[in-house]
Amino acid sequence: MFKGGRIIASLVIVVGLLSLPFFYNIGKAGKGPVINLNTPAIQQLAVKECIESTEWMKANHMKLLKQWRDEAVRMGNTDYINNQGKSFKISLQTCLHCHYDPALNMSDQFCVSCHNYTAVKPNCWSCHTWPKEVAI
Ligand code: HEC
Ligand code: HEC
Ligand code: HEC
Repeated sequence: MFKGGRIIASLVIVVGLLSLPFFYNIGKAGKGPVINLNTPAIQQLAVKECIESTEWMKANHMKLLKQWRDEAVRMGNTDYINNQGKSFKISLQTCLHCHYDPALNMSDQFCVSCHNYTAVKPNCWSCHTWPKEVAI
């Protein structure tokens, strides 16, 4: 009995020690993507706003981009007028102009970091380039 108790006690300690790295990592695993909104272009903005509201962009930027692609490629439209009547040039480069930060690695760039985190792999970058022709 006494021996059995010791074995169980040491098993509890061993299992506890083995689980330490697991518990240690819990906080880190929850670390989100780098949402860098401090790019040089955004710093220059008087009003820190995206093309449409942030909430709408989070949910719908992919739809907007596909609509842009169709408008530009099929209909030859080059202007997008947003909700507030403001005009933006229809191009992926318009997004990258504001959201690309030359100070960061490619994997920490706004679009890339969030897509990696959410396991989304847009195929756009096989044809479209990033500023400075950075390959990703
Ligand atoms: C197979 C190559 C290819 C892929 C993949 C691709 N595109 Fe394009 N895209 C083009 C070409 C070619 C044009 C026309 C370029 C021009 O007119 O200057 C274009 C034009 C565009 C335009 C308008 C002009 C511009 O400079 O941005 C948008 C917006 C666009 N694509 C978005 C996308 C998005 C979003 C994706 C990913 C979901 C994507 N494209 C994937 C080849 C591609
Ligand atoms: C004029 C500069 C500018 C342009 C152009 C721009 N953005 Fe933004 N974007 C911003 C700013 C500033 C914010 C943060 C606004 C805030 O603080 O709520 C933002 C926020 C976002 C967000 C939400 C991020 C989050 O989780 O909080 C997404 C997604 C996004 N942009 C995607 C895009 C895409 C895709 C394009 C091109 C179709 C684009 N943006 C064009 C400036 C821009
Ligand atoms: C806050 C996180 C986040 C940011 C920042 C973000 N995206 Fe996305 N993006 C997503 C998610 C999540 C999806 C997939 C949504 C779905 O499939 O419904 C997605 C999907 C897309 C798609 C469609 C992919 C496909 O194959 O259908 C494109 C194109 C795209 N994003 C472009 C961009 C661009 C360009 C930027 C930077 C200007 C950007 N995203 C920034 C989260 C983000």
